[in-house]
Amino acid sequence: MANLNNSGEREQWGSKIGFILAAAGSAVGLGNLWKFPYMAGKNGGGAFVLVYFIILFLVGFTLMLAEIVLGRYTQLNAIGAYRKIGKKWAFVGALGVLAGFLILSFYSVVGGWVIAYLVKTLTGALNVTDAEVLGNMFGKLISGTTEPIFYHALFMIATFLIVLGGIGGGIEKSSKILMPGLFVMIIVLAIRSMTLPGAVEGIKYLLVPDFSKINIDVVLDALGQVFFSLSLGMGCMITYGSYLSKDSNIPESAVTIPLIDTGVALLAGLAVLPAVFAFGFEPSAGPGLIFITFPAVFAQMPFGTLFEIMFFILVLFAALSSSISLLEVCVAYVVDEWKMNRKVATVSLAFVIFLLGIPASLSFGPWAHITLLPGKGFFDTFDFIASNILLPLGGLLLCIVVGWIWGTDNAIKEATNEGQLEFKFASFWAFLVKYVGPVAIGIVFIRSLLG
Ligand code: PHE
Repeated sequence: MANLNNSGEREQWGSKIGFILAAAGSAVGLGNLWKFPYMAGKNGGGAFVLVYFIILFLVGFTLMLAEIVLGRYTQLNAIGAYRKIGKKWAFVGALGVLAGFLILSFYSVVGGWVIAYLVKTLTGALNVTDAEVLGNMFGKLISGTTEPIFYHALFMIATFLIVLGGIGGGIEKSSKILMPGLFVMIIVLAIRSMTLPGAVEGIKYLLVPDFSKINIDVVLDALGQVFFSLSLGMGCMITYGSYLSKDSNIPESAVTIPLIDTGVALLAGLAVLPAVFAFGFEPSAGPGLIFITFPAVFAQMPFGTLFEIMFFILVLFAALSSSISLLEVCVAYVVDEWKMNRKVATVSLAFVIFLLGIPASLSFGPWAHITLLPGKGFFDTFDFIASNILLPLGGLLLCIVVGWIWGTDNAIKEATNEGQLEFKFASFWAFLVKYVGPVAIGIVFIRSLLG
């Protein structure tokens, strides 16, 4: 049976910490380690980080709670959950599944680069200190045809094998071991990076905002990044919340998960940008930033190769604990709504998403000249549509559904386990969901449409 355990009940997380780790595992991934540093580098450093924090506080925590609560209340997948609140809202869930589909296609391409780098480290091919050589090496990898697609396929295969294992089996167990390991590793890296000669400039770049750099593009990128990094706006936390038991503490989880996620993103920024300045790279180098910078940092460390192997293994697992949640949203939908066999659903979805990722991969090489949106090839277009449009739009509609249709009183009742739990900020949260969320997201959208 679909998403049910042997006794016919909906599967549930094995423990409270199991859910937090799995949800944090979904949130923490390439969004933090790969995308946050390059987005910050591209958008003026501190200016981006400041806007990111403002959006995190206004909508990040708020929507995290809204999604988890909606999931646990309905015990359904993203579309089913919205439908249960009102038939005509099912399309919001469908938008989310579509976003997950798109994101996974290019996410898996980057996941493939991580595997490729792991292989290169193991074979000693990365044992270079020259920054320019490292830059060329990355360029050569992503502009290729068969090599990046091969690794993209490997990443996709790993993703669906874990999802086939089911919720408790695959997702929960791996998160328990690997998340703490990643945390320690990234702290070591940040320390090394910040103590390199010339690193201070990078620390300043990341932490001291230059207000003149803030414009609507920076705000839209930061908005998209908050949603992307927290796995919000596409029903991922609805799906994970649907496997939560009725006695879990949702308000606490909704604070803990964003805090862990933001901590990792900031540490990743502190591991990358100081080194970027120390080695004389360009902060605006784009998607390749971490792949060029990290090997250069490792080359400056005792036992660098050993650390590098461990590091890429951990990044790979962080990426997988996110990619499985992206696939899980799509699978849960097909299984719950179309009553499709879970195995068949998983394998066929993974295959179609793999195909969609191929043009994303080729857009760094043979198809670089093809643009879908102004100045954006397949990869950037998929990312832009999913992260900067579909996810915030999903978030806006989530605010409307939870704040106005289902109603914040009902939501708070669910969040406090019918009044058994304390939720100090309940009325402030209600205000944020009903007014601040929709207005803030709406303004950013309208402003960026006006250009
Ligand atoms: N949050 C994940 C990351 O930062 C990516 C993701 C987005 C996962 C949306 C699920 C849903 O890597």
